[in-house]
Amino acid sequence: MELRRPLVVGNWKMNRVPSDASVLLDGLRERLAKVSNVSVVVCPPFVILPAAAAAMDKTSIAVGAQNMHHETNGAFTGEISPNMLRDLYVTHVILGHSERRTHFHETLGEINKKVQAALKYGLTPILCVGETWAEREKGNQEEVVRRQIVSALKGVSSDLVSQVVIAYEPVWAIGTGKTATPEIAQDMHSEIRSILWEICDESVARNACIIYGGSVKAANAAELLAQPDIDGGLVGGASLDAEEFFEIVSCAEREYVGPAAPIFGEGPDFQSQQ
Ligand code: PGA
Repeated sequence: MELRRPLVVGNWKMNRVPSDASVLLDGLRERLAKVSNVSVVVCPPFVILPAAAAAMDKTSIAVGAQNMHHETNGAFTGEISPNMLRDLYVTHVILGHSERRTHFHETLGEINKKVQAALKYGLTPILCVGETWAEREKGNQEEVVRRQIVSALKGVSSDLVSQVVIAYEPVWAIGTGKTATPEIAQDMHSEIRSILWEICDESVARNACIIYGGSVKAANAAELLAQPDIDGGLVGGASLDAEEFFEIVSCAEREYVGPAAPIFGEGPDFQSQQ
């Protein structure tokens, strides 16, 4: 059984300016220096990436971007390419965040191209999926998440799918203070493993890193991270406070008990997909 190491990602969104970012970056570096059993990625805005890479140099903290274009270069005014990110020592990239899908009208096809481009350049995609409240009220949450995952991973080999982190972020829980209950989150994480089993294989499903996002704070992190299929968190607002973020990472470290059999179904129920 592969050991699923916890992962906690801080998504700063459009916050902080380069001249004041060092306070937060230094605070994170100092606090997180002692963490050894959790992978941590800090995702500041593009203009802070060079400072973040310098601050985290020679630490185990990785630096990620919040978006990218799928092309390598060309006439795409205002865009940032995967190789530009690589050049800045960026190793991860958040893709398909609901704020990008909603405010910037990113389509399923574009997200698929971005996932493929990130993998081509050796960047780890953190693929965000999740339903709106209206979709959940209609009972469509699994269908919505399934469509987002299947389309984002279209044409990606199982080997490469195993390098993708999936972040389940119910849209109704992002920045609202309304966290999914641990049971709701666990159910969807288990469902995501079934989807990966169906489109790849059992080993990819069992070993996939699936993290939860949506109003994760120090106060609710432990109960979410204690769920068997929740491997970490994608943290927005609470990642802007070094102490709070450190407490979330510490929860992930405490909940990590080493290799354990994930609890999920007996594989995909193909018939129910017909
Ligand atoms: P939040 O954001 O923690 O502020 O809800 C999470 C995210 O959007 O990644």
